[in-house]
Amino acid sequence: MGMNLAYKILSSKLKDGELIPGQQIGIQIDQTLTQDSTGTMAYLQLEAMNIKHVAVEKAVAYIDHNMLQTGFENMDDHEFIRSVAKKHGIVFSKPGNGVCHQLQLENFSKPGKTLVGSDSHTPTCGAMGMIAIGAGGLDVAVAMATGKYYLQCPSVVKVNLTGKKAPWVSAKDIILYILQQLTVKGGVNKIIEYTGEGIASLSLTDRATICNMGAELGATTSVFPTDERTKEYLVQQGREEDYIEMKADEDAAYDQELDVDLSKLVPMTAKPHSPDAVVPVKELEGMKVNQVVIGSCTNSSFADMMKAAKILKGRKVANHVSLVIAPGSSSILAMLSQNGALADMVQAGARILECGCGPCIGMGQAPLSKGVSLRTINRNFKGRSGTNDASVYLVSPEIAALSAIKGYMSEEFKDDMYLDEVPNTPFVKNRNFFIDEYDENNEVYMGPNIKPVPRGDKISDEISGKVVLKVGDNISTDHIVPSDSKLLPYRSNVPHLAKFSFSKVDPEFYDRAIANDGGFIVGGDNYGQGSSREHAALVPNYLKIKAIFAVSFARIHRSNLINNGILPLVIEAKDQDFFNDQDNYKIVNIKEVVDHNGKVKVINETTNESIEASLTLSPREKVMINYGGLLNAIKELGGE
Ligand code: F3S
Repeated sequence: MGMNLAYKILSSKLKDGELIPGQQIGIQIDQTLTQDSTGTMAYLQLEAMNIKHVAVEKAVAYIDHNMLQTGFENMDDHEFIRSVAKKHGIVFSKPGNGVCHQLQLENFSKPGKTLVGSDSHTPTCGAMGMIAIGAGGLDVAVAMATGKYYLQCPSVVKVNLTGKKAPWVSAKDIILYILQQLTVKGGVNKIIEYTGEGIASLSLTDRATICNMGAELGATTSVFPTDERTKEYLVQQGREEDYIEMKADEDAAYDQELDVDLSKLVPMTAKPHSPDAVVPVKELEGMKVNQVVIGSCTNSSFADMMKAAKILKGRKVANHVSLVIAPGSSSILAMLSQNGALADMVQAGARILECGCGPCIGMGQAPLSKGVSLRTINRNFKGRSGTNDASVYLVSPEIAALSAIKGYMSEEFKDDMYLDEVPNTPFVKNRNFFIDEYDENNEVYMGPNIKPVPRGDKISDEISGKVVLKVGDNISTDHIVPSDSKLLPYRSNVPHLAKFSFSKVDPEFYDRAIANDGGFIVGGDNYGQGSSREHAALVPNYLKIKAIFAVSFARIHRSNLINNGILPLVIEAKDQDFFNDQDNYKIVNIKEVVDHNGKVKVINETTNESIEASLTLSPREKVMINYGGLLNAIKELGGE
């Protein structure tokens, strides 16, 4: 049996362990990226590691999330990141340059390389034949310091694309269809590898859209082989020499397979409040729309913008609709302004935002109360838009632009709106937003918004406490630490952020956790889904939450909990009823289970009843839990 592409790349970078699904592996990392929202904490952690120059080929610090400067906090964070970047030889991407994944794809992505980024949509660069993985900030800091990253070896799913999509079907519809089939849990601990003759009809940025939303499947990453379309994109970027052929062996083995006939697909939308609540657009034809957002790391490429502009050209946005457009990078914005497409958008009545995440992360443009917002973004969790009772639908740029004109959800395109292939345009490269400096003596700027990183305690053999929160299935990192714009400026200020933890689920959680000096949280299936947001573990660490019981954990969040010395204990679904908020609970014999894996006993000290909860840790994770987190354990792990 031959090798699939994912394992080919992983085996060429393997430093530790074997490529057996479920086993811990350590891989060499060639590139890292951070964004400002997770980056502040990652760089505080990097500072604590006392290194000089980063140990990777290319590390880039992007500013794209917290762009509003209505107070000093965001600017403080940006300046902190700029100063740390200079001290350690990290490229700094200034605010206004664009969204991290779009910029990484344009400027630094290279076939066959590995990338780890402190943003869950880092897999976007899988479109370039890379292994690109989203991780917590601390893991990225360790990768910058050591050039290595540890993960559970994923299994590989083959998604075989056949046929050719119909004119109004886009890459977004392909990934929405796959989400409908596999659900938000379908990719956990898996790499989604695309194969088949249908690939040739997809441009590099189409593939990037598909890889981007592999994160919504919960996948470790997604990857495409390289081909003429890859080369075409690299030529556009003036980086043709970076091309190498990367593909699976003819007889490659896979762990799971899914066939997708592109010719059968139709325009799709994900309904509130989950990216896998996917239905054909036709089902919602005529639904009144208040706001339309085109942009984000999913759909802000030059081609996406050109397709939207073609639909808008010579037409008018409906009176009751606010259309906002954020191009993915400063290069794209420059090109749109040079070729006249920007004028077409503005003439139609679109509001142009600066290049960045903007509305995707709730940084401005919160929708109307109870309003309907159509967005080309990747997530529609409740409240993420900044309006808790708004309904966000995920759509392609084409559906978004058309619906903005009509004023309601629509797929009734006219022939003259169609732009099949965007002309192969050389990119207007803009290096003025990138700063690439190195001075190991550079002074790090620490404004008053930046507070120390919380550190955990060494593990004890017994832990007791109250259940300070009990929640259901699919709790996202947004639930744990809301990402609304009022809180984003405090990503480097965990004590402030903690006051809002779970505020949309149980507003009394913070007070209860403080009153009980920590305790336990009980969750359902897929606990911690969503983003790589490390704060969703840093905050519980600060609040002295010692263990989380859940039926299952999302991959990145589980790692973040362990990085923070918090036990991720797996319980059976029926055992959720064992916990209540009145009684005291005790976990016993922890040290032995941490060292050897297995089941800890959990005792209700009031009724004396007990259950078992499972803990399976890799050797490296055992050290972290024993030391109360990765930062405490970094020396013990041999500088890894
Ligand atoms: Fe930014 Fe939204 Fe992507 S916050 S990195 S555009 S998921």
